[in-house]
Amino acid sequence: MNQSAKLALGDKSTELELRHGTIGPDVVDIASLYKNTGLFTYDPGFTSTASCESKITYIDGDEGVLLHRGYPIDQLAERGDFLETCYLLLYGELPTAHEMTDFVYRVTRHTMVHEQMSRFYTGFRRDAHPMAVMVGSVGALSAFYHDSTDIADPHQRMVASIRMVAKTPTLAAMAYKYHIGQPFVYPRNDLSYAENFLHMCFAVPCEPYHINPVLAKAMDRIFILHADHEQNASTSTVRLAGSSGANPFACIAAGIACLWGPAHGGANEAALNMLTEIGTKDRIPEFIARAKDKNDPFRLMGFGHRVYKNYDPRAKIMQQTCHEVLDELGLKDDPLLEVAMELEHIALNDPYFIEKKLYPNVDFYSGITLKALGFPTTMFTVLFAVARTVGWIAQWKEMIEDPHQRIGRPRQLYTGAPQRDYVAVGERG
Ligand code: SDX
Repeated sequence: MNQSAKLALGDKSTELELRHGTIGPDVVDIASLYKNTGLFTYDPGFTSTASCESKITYIDGDEGVLLHRGYPIDQLAERGDFLETCYLLLYGELPTAHEMTDFVYRVTRHTMVHEQMSRFYTGFRRDAHPMAVMVGSVGALSAFYHDSTDIADPHQRMVASIRMVAKTPTLAAMAYKYHIGQPFVYPRNDLSYAENFLHMCFAVPCEPYHINPVLAKAMDRIFILHADHEQNASTSTVRLAGSSGANPFACIAAGIACLWGPAHGGANEAALNMLTEIGTKDRIPEFIARAKDKNDPFRLMGFGHRVYKNYDPRAKIMQQTCHEVLDELGLKDDPLLEVAMELEHIALNDPYFIEKKLYPNVDFYSGITLKALGFPTTMFTVLFAVARTVGWIAQWKEMIEDPHQRIGRPRQLYTGAPQRDYVAVGERG
């Protein structure tokens, strides 16, 4: 029998089972609480709530540790590549050489999208934000790929997973090309995942596109850093959407919509806009003061995290990648990098940020790197969505395959009007 927790409620009490994970905090199983006591728990923002059991990603926020299926993010980023991380997240183990060859073959040959999708894009205004295009186009995949929407069929679940990983970069590149008025570029099977994405974004019909291996490696590593992150807001959105039985394409579209917010995946775009607004190092104190002012809604974008109360391990690798890209492109004196480095130094030594344990997160250095790679700020969150698609789909698959899975349906603390009778309009005050 597992240990239990006793909850005393006046003259009543109830026993709640304690459950232990492999590593990390234990949980108090409250599933029977309402049935036994008529009480709900209350945790807006889910600060103390485990929404599910998962084997995919583990975060230790105090230590700044991130593991994918047990492997530390720095080892995966430095020694592997993005498709290997995709295999690990989807299948639970690092692939053998044969498994990797087969997986790369399957993903590569699903990178094209139905040709009618290109006509779907012309329905958007030219100046539509690429994230709006991504929400629409990924959701529209369910209108084109009916043969992989039966979520009860394990084969169709894996086909849909491969299709999502393979087609999201193509849709993202098409969103970018449409945004800048250039022709779409078809995927190429002779290129790696990251090379293919850069080619689809930056090649033009008028001349050959030469792939810079340093930049392609940086792109691949940026994808790895953003692949999955436990039960963050967009992953929780995908799980909740999937719990109703919605098809995987619609669930991923819901995740993209949630990621768009500036408190979540939209922070990379907001962080670069913030660094641009600060402009020079001498203006940093003004913005630090605003971030500390309770009457000012301004926050340092790219700083702070619900879970990390230490340096985000991804931010360290992101900073190193940023330096590599800027060095390769001869931009190491980029004024934005100077402002970012000085802002980080000042914030990490400021009592306010130290007391609240606010450190740079993955979004702080990604914007500078993505801008140097040639992407406009409007594409930053799209790139986050491309990378996170594998995490969303892996978490969706795990939920669907969980025998205890039920539709997610939270309750509430109701503080509205008690029951009252209807009053005819002529008798209202
Ligand atoms: C991502 O969840 C994930 O895993 C997300 C993600 C992933 O991979 O999926 O890691 C990706 O979304 C990273 C986070 C990107 N967002 C930003 O960089 C936006 C700026 N940061 C924040 O708005 C904030 O830090 C959050 C949203 C990230 C976390 O918010 P919490 O956990 O709800 O914390 P909070 O808002 O309650 O803040 C606690 C205190 C507050 O002060 P008090 O009310 O206690 O006095 O810290 C302050 C906040 O005012 N604070 C900040 C701050 N972040 C928090 N003050 C200034 N600047 C900031 N950035």
